[in-house]
Amino acid sequence: MDRFQYIIKLIDDLNEIQDLDLLLEKILEKARLFFNADAGSIYLKEGERLKFSYTQNETLQKRQKSGKLIYSVFSIPIDENSIAGYVAKRYLKYNEKTVLNIPDVYSLPEDLPYRFDRSFDEKSGYRTKSMLVVPLINNRDELIGVLQLINARDETGKVIPFSSSDEPYILNFAKAAAIALEKAQLTRSLILRMINMAALRDPEETAEHVNRVGAYSVEIFEEWARMKGYSEDEIEKKKSILRMAAMVHDVGKVGISDTILKKPGKLTAEEFEIMKAHTYLGARLFLQDPKSEFDIAAAEVALNHHERWDGKGYPGHVDPFTGKPLPGYEEKGRARPKKGEEIPVFGRIVALADVYDALSSKRCYKEPWPEEKVLKEIEKNAGRQFDPSVVEAFFSCLDAIRAIKERYKN
Ligand code: C2E
Ligand code: SIN
Ligand code: SIN
Ligand code: FE
Ligand code: FE
Repeated sequence: MDRFQYIIKLIDDLNEIQDLDLLLEKILEKARLFFNADAGSIYLKEGERLKFSYTQNETLQKRQKSGKLIYSVFSIPIDENSIAGYVAKRYLKYNEKTVLNIPDVYSLPEDLPYRFDRSFDEKSGYRTKSMLVVPLINNRDELIGVLQLINARDETGKVIPFSSSDEPYILNFAKAAAIALEKAQLTRSLILRMINMAALRDPEETAEHVNRVGAYSVEIFEEWARMKGYSEDEIEKKKSILRMAAMVHDVGKVGISDTILKKPGKLTAEEFEIMKAHTYLGARLFLQDPKSEFDIAAAEVALNHHERWDGKGYPGHVDPFTGKPLPGYEEKGRARPKKGEEIPVFGRIVALADVYDALSSKRCYKEPWPEEKVLKEIEKNAGRQFDPSVVEAFFSCLDAIRAIKERYKN
C-alpha cells in the first residue's frame, strides 16, 4: 500500500470508532507507525487551553512491567512559549497551518519564542529529540488540538530527525484525525449531556464518577477477555462500546424521586425497593428505539449491573418495559434474580467497577473507604457478589485502575 492509500484507509478506520479515548489511542498508534516515531502525544483544545489528553511512548512502555503508560492529564495555555502552544496560536492568530519539524528540541535556536519543557524528560529519564508537530483542524476550519510525534527512528532504531518529505503527509494525517475526533467528541458530549441530566437529580453522579466507572470497566474487560482468549480485534471493538455503556449505567436514576435519591441516611426497605427500579428504567431508555450496538450494550449494562454472581441481586429476569417478571421466571411474586453466566458479562464487569467506585468514594450516605478495606471487600465477594474471573481480572490490572482513580479525582 502506498502512503496515500494508507491515509484513505485510515479515514475509514478512524471513522468507525466512536469513543474518544479509543480514538486518541488509534490515531497515535497509526501516526507513530506511519512516521516510525517512538512516541507521541495529542493535545485537545479546551476553551483557551490545550489539554494534554493522550500519550504513547514505546521506549518507556517497554521499560515498565505492565506495558501501560501511566501519565497525568494537565493543560497548558495557548501561547507561543511552548511547542504545542505555538502551533495552536499560529493557527488561531494567523490561520497558519504550521508544521514544526524540529531535529533536536534541546538545541532550539535562542531567537525562537518557544522552549521545550524538559521537566517530563527529567521525571521519566527519557530523552526527547526530534519532533514533528501539527495543528488538528476540522472541516469547519476550527482548531481541535495539536498532534505531536516524537523521536523518528531509522531502520536500526536510532533516533533521527523527521524527514521534510513527511511534512505534507502529516497534514493529511492530521485532517483525517481531526474529523474523526470531532465526531467522537460529539458522541461523547451527547452522552455527557444525558449524564448531566441524571446528575441534576443525583448529586453523587458527577462526571468524574461516570468517567471512572467507564474507564475501570474497560481495563477489567481487556484483562478478562485476554484471559478468556478473545482476539485483539474483538477486544478493541467491544472496548469503546463498553466504556460508553458503563458511563450510563445509572441513568435510570432520573426516574427515582429526590427524597429517595438524596436521602442523607440509610434507605428503608421500601425505599430501596423503589431504588431498584433504576436498573430497568435505564434499560427502557435505550430499548425504546434501539439503533446501535451501543443502545443494546447500554440497556444490558443498566439492567444487569446490580445482579450478583450468587443469584441474590436485582432486578432479575424482568421485562424492562413493565418491571414485571418474564413469563416462567416468577418466584414468590417476584422475578427470579439472574445468576452466574445468566448475567451478561458487561453487567458482571460494570457491577464490580461500580462497587469499587462507590466504596472508594464519598456518597451522601457513606464516607470513602480506605483502599485496603475496599480490596478486601472485593476479594471476599469473589464468587458471591462478583464473578470470580472478573475479580481476578480486576486484580491483574490494579495499577491501571489506580492510575484512573488518580486521573479522574473529584
Ligand atoms: P451507589 O451509591 O452507586 O452504590 C453502588 C453499589 O455499591 C451499591 O449497590 C452496593 O452494591 C455498593 N455499595 C455502596 N456502598 C456500600 C457500602 O457501604 N457497603 C457495601 N458492602 N456496598 C456498598 P446497591 O446497594 O444496590 O445500591 C444502589 C444504589 O442505591 C446506590 O448506588 C445508591 O444510589 C442507592 N443507595 C443504596 N443504599 C443507600 C442508602 O443507604 N442511602 C441512600 N441515600 N442511597 C442508597
Ligand atoms: C457512577 O455512576 O459512575 C458512580 C455513581 C453511582 O453509581 O451512583
Ligand atoms: C459480549 O458481547 O461479549 C458481551 C455481551 C454480553 O454482555 O454478554
Ligand atoms: Fe446502580
Ligand atoms: Fe452506580
